[in-house]
Amino acid sequence: MAINWFPGHMATARSEIRSRMSEVDLVIEVLDARIPYSSENPLVPGLRGDKPFIQILNKADLAEPDVTAAWITAKAGPGVRALAQSRFDTTLAARVGALARELVAPSRTRARPMLAMILGIPNVGKSTVINTLSGRTIAKTGNKPGVTTMQQRINAGKDLVLLDTPGFLWPKLSPEVCGYRLAAMGSISDRVLDLVDIAWFVARILTADRPEVLRTWYRLDTLPVGEEALIEAIGRRAGHLKKGGVVDTQKAAERLVFDLRAGQFGPISLERPEEFSFGS
Ligand code: G4P
Repeated sequence: MAINWFPGHMATARSEIRSRMSEVDLVIEVLDARIPYSSENPLVPGLRGDKPFIQILNKADLAEPDVTAAWITAKAGPGVRALAQSRFDTTLAARVGALARELVAPSRTRARPMLAMILGIPNVGKSTVINTLSGRTIAKTGNKPGVTTMQQRINAGKDLVLLDTPGFLWPKLSPEVCGYRLAAMGSISDRVLDLVDIAWFVARILTADRPEVLRTWYRLDTLPVGEEALIEAIGRRAGHLKKGGVVDTQKAAERLVFDLRAGQFGPISLERPEEFSFGS
């Protein structure tokens, strides 16, 4: 898969984050609960050092609850906690506040509200989480790092202030399957992707994990064998046709990928902690 990445911007964002790290009491990273490994920023451990750390597995409504629960256990460690969040769950501020008070030294929490740097790669729902934590709609911090990107401090209750960061960060593109998972979930801009390639990946997962749901959702009599045949059948059923009745493969591929992103096949977890040799 050819992904156009921008090392210059990455380096700028990294130095911005590094330079502000000493001010903060803790770090919060928002992940996509369907891919809690691939949506982690691999640079965070090096950047945060031993700062207390909370990972929010967001979009938990789109993931399998037992798998998310296993991830929360696997990710917990010294100074590190994880929790699950779904859009509209307004208990988030109380849950994050409680974990932050548990992790941050009391000497720091008594003097002033805790300052938390909030990180998250694009589309994991960082803005939605910030809005939920602060109880209001906050303008989105640009996804391109620059001088002013990290000036935004947001009050989130009486105990917590958030320091927003650009969403333009470093997803795990290695091993290659992480890149595919991120692309399937929408964290890599579709403009730099071959969506037909991503649709083949999605077709493989769903054929193995959700064959009956897939067949029913697209009203197919039988599930075609092979990715190409499945995408063709989806296109034909959805009426994505070009001149001469030929299936528009691009549109059919988009349909499959967008339906997955929207949760049309039910809660699905693409990664399980036991696949990885470590928890976080
Ligand atoms: P970002 O800042 O990390 O880039 O993400 P943002 O909050 O903009 O969220 C990206 C998309 O994910 C939005 O959908 C948002 O509504 C959706 N989303 C965020 N949190 C959750 C969640 O917990 N569950 C579900 N199901 N969806 C979530 P969108 O279609 O791009 O925008 P919108 O039309 O919903 O505003």
